Amino acid sequence: MSRDAAPDGRQPTAPYLDALVAYGFRGVTRFHVPGHKGGPGADPGLLHAIGESALQLDVPQDTEGVDIGPSPTPYELAEQLAADAYGAQRTWFLTNGATQGNHVLCLVLAPLGTPVVLQRNAHASMVDGLVLSGGLPTFVSPTLDAGLGLAHGVAPEAVEAALARTPGAAAVFVVSPTYYGIAADVSALAAVAHAAGAALVVDQSWGPHFGFHPSVPQSALTLGADAVLTSTHKIVGSLTQSAMLHVAHDSRVDPARIARVVRLLRSTSPSSLLLASLDSARRQLAVHGEALLSQTLAAAQRTREAIDRVEGCAVVGEEMVGAPGAAAWDPLRIVIDVRGTGCTGYEVSAALKAAYDIHVELATQATLVLILGVAQPVDALERFAHDFAETIARVARPGARDAIVMPSAALENELACAPREAFLGVAEVVGVDDAVGRISCESIAGYPPGIPALLPGERVTAELVAYLRQLVAAGARLHGASDPAFETINVLRTHSAAAR
Ligand SMILES: Cc1ncc(COP(=O)(O)O)c(C=O)c1O
Repeated sequence: MSRDAAPDGRQPTAPYLDALVAYGFRGVTRFHVPGHKGGPGADPGLLHAIGESALQLDVPQDTEGVDIGPSPTPYELAEQLAADAYGAQRTWFLTNGATQGNHVLCLVLAPLGTPVVLQRNAHASMVDGLVLSGGLPTFVSPTLDAGLGLAHGVAPEAVEAALARTPGAAAVFVVSPTYYGIAADVSALAAVAHAAGAALVVDQSWGPHFGFHPSVPQSALTLGADAVLTSTHKIVGSLTQSAMLHVAHDSRVDPARIARVVRLLRSTSPSSLLLASLDSARRQLAVHGEALLSQTLAAAQRTREAIDRVEGCAVVGEEMVGAPGAAAWDPLRIVIDVRGTGCTGYEVSAALKAAYDIHVELATQATLVLILGVAQPVDALERFAHDFAETIARVARPGARDAIVMPSAALENELACAPREAFLGVAEVVGVDDAVGRISCESIAGYPPGIPALLPGERVTAELVAYLRQLVAAGARLHGASDPAFETINVLRTHSAAAR
């Protein structure tokens, strides 16, 4: 246990934040970076926008009493407190999001030529990590809810089968929970990974609050994962771009190797504001998390019931638990099926924006997704139920809409060469219709739903081209596509040999 925790394991302090405050506000004469000198050197517009306090606390790495000096420094204490709160052996604060964590874990566990098993609907940053590292993925398809066009997690049997096809796999990379709040059966996944001699990495970006209340799912760390990512900024109150990487006690992943690679992929000037926000978010979660979640969950339940009473709409998620790849559900997510309104999720989202300035996290053809924070303002939630009901009454029309469903071929598309070889290979730009049969150099995810339909190294198919066109026509953005209008695409000019 950290020296800064109370003897009973409670965590009332935020040592990094406190040390930063002590340095930032005591009026030191700054002959060091950054150039704004704690405020006086900043453009007045920035000073007004973010305030003097933020600029005074924006201090460089290697500041005595903050992150250098006698060990443990406040920085080391802060990471240790986070490890204790999450039940990890060691935790790293990340200042380039969970994206950086996925890159780190790929470089550590999937170096050049190393076989790994990867969930096919993983976040793009995992595949980008393999582009950096040169690891060779065998993909596992998630379970699909075809009606709503949502992908769940991966079933343990599917991972077991993928491991059987992947001799020497060093690791299994999965996502839990999904964007829609559906968590996988992590203990069963850990059992199959470990039986095959592979480490289990869980990208728990959407569950930094897991394990901090009896009504939210357990954390993957307590369920047997070896390494876990939490994107703290998404749900807990840290600043955008801040996240944590945790290694379990008795992990199959060597913390010393992670430390080396975190250093490799980190700026030499990590933002002290982001780091302090992680330290204070950890304190808030550890000290008040359960009470705050109780308030938020009670309000969320009332809101869900009110939404369910709106004609043509249904809140979905909880009833999916038990389907393959869906072992638990996060009540901080409100996923609304709007198919019965005759409108698409895109249309309802636009109507909420236009009339009430309400901005939801995600709209798809069939759904709207609201992401609640741990300390979600309750009055805004209750107001939403009213504004949503009024909006639907105004925009609903007869008939029901279908979801746009990703073709299953997209989730089962075999790699023709390694993602690294395709991404870094000699590319040419061709019209998307002429790209059919060629090897993609791009990772393209329709956003929403954000699942890559095409990865570097996969062959472009006519079905995929049709699906991506349909998404663009429905108003989705194509994340990762070099041509947002999806008229052209980069494909490999030459391809020496099959990579696998
Ligand atoms: C599953 C998953 N992993 C990783 C990330 C990347 O997180 P960050 O934005 O913190 O870099 C995201 C972002 O949405 C995500 O959905």
